[in-house]
Amino acid sequence: MSKLTLEEAASLTAGAAMWRTVAIPDADVPALHLSDGPMGIASGRVDERDVARLSPCATALGASFDPALIERVGALVGGEAVRCGVDMVLAPNVNLARSPLAGRAFEYYSEDPLLTGIAGAAWTRGLQSTGTGACPKHMVCNDSETDRDRMNAVVDERTLREIYLLPFEFCAAAGAGAMLTAYNRVNGTWCAEQGHVSTIVKQEWGFDGPLISDWFGTHSTAGSLNGGLDLEMPGPARFVGAKAVGAVEAGEVSADRVADAADRVARAARRWTGAKRPPTEDADALLVEAAAAGMVLLRNEGELLPLVPGRDARIAVIGPNAAAPCYQGGTFAKIALSPDAARPLEAIVERYAGVEVVYEPGVDPQPRLPSMPVASIDGDGRGMTIDYFADPDLGGEPIYSEVRDTNSLVWFVGVHDEGVFDRPAAVRASGWFTAEADGPHRFYVGATGAVRMTVDGRAILDRAERMAASDVMGSLKRGDADSADVMLTTGQRVRVEVAFTYDGARVHGLWYGVRGPDSAAAMLARAVDAARAADAVVLIVGETSDSSVESKDRPDTALAAEQVALIDAVCAANPRVAIVANIGHAFDARWGEQAAALLSAWYPGEGFGPALAAVLSGDREPGGRLPVTLARSEADYPALALTPDDRGDLAYDDGVLVGYRGLAARGVAPLHAFGAGRGYTRFDWIAAEADGGNVLVTIRNAGDRAGSEVVQLYRHDPEFALVGFAKVHLGVGEQAVVRVTPEPRLFRIWRDDRWTQLDGPVRLSVGPASDRMSFTIDTNR
Ligand code: BGC
Repeated sequence: MSKLTLEEAASLTAGAAMWRTVAIPDADVPALHLSDGPMGIASGRVDERDVARLSPCATALGASFDPALIERVGALVGGEAVRCGVDMVLAPNVNLARSPLAGRAFEYYSEDPLLTGIAGAAWTRGLQSTGTGACPKHMVCNDSETDRDRMNAVVDERTLREIYLLPFEFCAAAGAGAMLTAYNRVNGTWCAEQGHVSTIVKQEWGFDGPLISDWFGTHSTAGSLNGGLDLEMPGPARFVGAKAVGAVEAGEVSADRVADAADRVARAARRWTGAKRPPTEDADALLVEAAAAGMVLLRNEGELLPLVPGRDARIAVIGPNAAAPCYQGGTFAKIALSPDAARPLEAIVERYAGVEVVYEPGVDPQPRLPSMPVASIDGDGRGMTIDYFADPDLGGEPIYSEVRDTNSLVWFVGVHDEGVFDRPAAVRASGWFTAEADGPHRFYVGATGAVRMTVDGRAILDRAERMAASDVMGSLKRGDADSADVMLTTGQRVRVEVAFTYDGARVHGLWYGVRGPDSAAAMLARAVDAARAADAVVLIVGETSDSSVESKDRPDTALAAEQVALIDAVCAANPRVAIVANIGHAFDARWGEQAAALLSAWYPGEGFGPALAAVLSGDREPGGRLPVTLARSEADYPALALTPDDRGDLAYDDGVLVGYRGLAARGVAPLHAFGAGRGYTRFDWIAAEADGGNVLVTIRNAGDRAGSEVVQLYRHDPEFALVGFAKVHLGVGEQAVVRVTPEPRLFRIWRDDRWTQLDGPVRLSVGPASDRMSFTIDTNR
């Protein structure tokens, strides 16, 4: 590398554009193209409006307890990055599901730091095997969304290191390309200026990649650089970049620090723009395998599942999420999903061909903003046709068109480097809606700009004033929209058109929907009738993609009240009900006790439909175990409320007793424990013994199907904690000795300003869930 001048070095410390870093061709420094993640390639793509593959959310991947599988999913996303011309992905998210209310909990692998660290490192290795860099985020203690731009996490040093930094340490050891600093403060200092954290990362762990600011998350020039930040994103520069020159001249920052930051950025740019190695694995098959591997079977009374096709003559599929599944949450990293992805209902109907399958939603699928079930304007796709115009008056030909089967679209400015969202322009969404009932149909529309909706050419909604773009996620979550009724008759087809004009702003959103005249009482009554007449019921409940959003936490762990009422009524009508929960985080699952079976599917990505059909029918087993505790009551969670106090402080009072550790310390029994779940077979746990530092566990598949078990190893002191696990697949009657290697990092305690090893005899327990220990063994370390 030719020696950079101070000006050149400074220029590398801030981005060039929304998703691109600065290039200095003469010094052999290429530009790095970035994209948001983790569920797929969300932005910064070559063609921004391409659909992309959507993998299961991190909670579903964590539930698989299968690092090898998670690595393959990371490689799949890496393949997508290669296809899209992306060099580095802002993922994995290795913050912790500390509270079940966290708005982004679905993006977290687990409440457990070890499982999160192992999963994040595996995903990182997989992604990077394709020549694409990983950028684990958000460092650190960004485990909630309320006031995330200002919140100050107050956390003691032991907890910071053993719990919240541990997953980042795993990712660093896996060779992660960079790290993204968080928006919040930790112990009074912005994460983008956290000298204490950056010293641990760079000096103690020897991490040589750049620390990158979360988007727009910088606050000063000298504070950033002296705090260890290497790259301000996005570009163009606001606090760092060229301003670093002045800071050096004023003696506020050393020239060496700027050179070091530039070196880190330049190294990453060279490394991740090099040779690409897309994976060869079939993505369709992997997305189904991964979705099923994360599904957790929590109850299965009388072995209701699997519902072997042909055994029952009539199956009722009930519930809003069967036809309107929640594939992903509402972050800026939302993936444009292929409209061809089979819904659970379609996949079940296909798998149970020959069986009578009836469907009743039971409740309105989208209580806030309904969906927009239309055919594209040219008639050959599902969803609205979206035309993008450079002319704010929708003049001329569209510069681009696509079909999007969703009721909400969010665009980040500069998603298109040379795009149309940084200046006034327009979007037209249009589709054909066919009424399925007689009566008033209510149409909804909301947007961050001026918006006008017409039905068959007649304007029904017209709003000129702009909505604050800054609260796009909040508006969406609340379903803020104007609405108007249009009388339609069964079978009537109308053309729905929305014209949206906007100014340049950081974020833009457009959302719409239509609600038929069906009454809630009639929907519920039809569902109950269907349940009563069926031999078995699959009841698919859960969330919508606006239930969990970035920048907002959730108020409680409850499922929507009308869905709970639906569960009560359906379970009273039929004893053979399997509930499928399409919820991306820990939830109040008490309603599951009245059903024969309860399966937690999380947000399983685009493989949801076929994976669910395969699990219900027994073609696959549900392979997951709980990566988060499902408590009996909200008060039992060691951390719940996420609103900082008046000073902006959020006290991490649960300390190292996060999640199940805290319940265990207080002797509180959860409804469903961390690590719990079962497949379709059963295992005999025969013996366990220490073998050097390892633990050897003999288990046998004692059921009549092949299946998998997760062997979990816990320490008891200084507090109960997962220290290792291994997933094993065994055929019928097969016996195996499973070796579990305890993770050395779980045997050091931060005490008196240094690491202390837990030496001597250490008592460990091993079992199939955190509340079911089969053997206790004393090991010598
Ligand atoms: C989010 C990050 C994301 C970034 C870029 C931020 O608002 O916190 O997770 O990677 O935006 O989209």
